[in-house]
Amino acid sequence: MHWLLSGPLSIERLTVKIPDLPISLEGKKLVQMSDFHYDGLRLSEEMLEQAIATSNQLKPDLVLLTGDYVTTSAEPIHELALRLKQLESQVGVYAILGNHDIYYKHSKSEITNALTSVGVNVLWNQIAYPFGKQLPLVGLADRYSLEFNPTVVMNQLDPEIPRIVLSHNPDTAELLQAWRVDLQLSGHTHGGQIVIPGLGPMLLYYKKALQHIPMKVKRYFPFLQRNYLIIRHWEWAQGLHQVGNNQLYVNRGLGTYLPGRLFCPPEVTEIILQRA
Ligand SMILES: [Fe+2]
Repeated sequence: MHWLLSGPLSIERLTVKIPDLPISLEGKKLVQMSDFHYDGLRLSEEMLEQAIATSNQLKPDLVLLTGDYVTTSAEPIHELALRLKQLESQVGVYAILGNHDIYYKHSKSEITNALTSVGVNVLWNQIAYPFGKQLPLVGLADRYSLEFNPTVVMNQLDPEIPRIVLSHNPDTAELLQAWRVDLQLSGHTHGGQIVIPGLGPMLLYYKKALQHIPMKVKRYFPFLQRNYLIIRHWEWAQGLHQVGNNQLYVNRGLGTYLPGRLFCPPEVTEIILQRA
């Protein structure tokens, strides 16, 4: 996407407080990137290069990628993987897949293999320990896949131990309240792309307004029947949220769909872990 429509890259910096975080992990730096949509249209080479350079400049301990590397065809993943190979991280680069990464039957394996071949660890209902046993990292299957089932993976964890969970779709935070999630990292929303300053994503208000239009009117205007089901919880379109006892951070992503972004720039996130 041309930068006039996407806006310039922005770096979001936040500190997240985690109870029971081992002292040895205090101050560890995570970098999150999401929703690349590397398809020749939605993410420019310049934006991608800048995001990777930014991540490297931040000197992260751990780099986390939260899905949607492509849009429909899985083919561009091979070129994207060569770029992502440049990512530098103290303890590794870990990734989950998004709904666009399972678009075709073969997409999941093609994307997983391409990322794995450049040293990116892809988690699909799996637990990894990049910082050791005291801070597990969970990567869930995409919510729209038939394999989305957090019970099996979450129940393997000791409730006394803090954990970070990667889950592409932020709506999953609702379900994940059944378990301890010290920090959930998601993407998927692109922040809503068009944001009304001080109020939030336009789609949140559009959805609310639609509820007040009677069905007999909607019948004459089919476009008013579209529900924009990208997510249910548009109030979680971006940023840090408390969901029950859990914390959710939603990254605005790097790729941009038409008509572009307004007050919602593409994002690289720096997260510092702090003991609560
Ligand atoms: Fe998505």
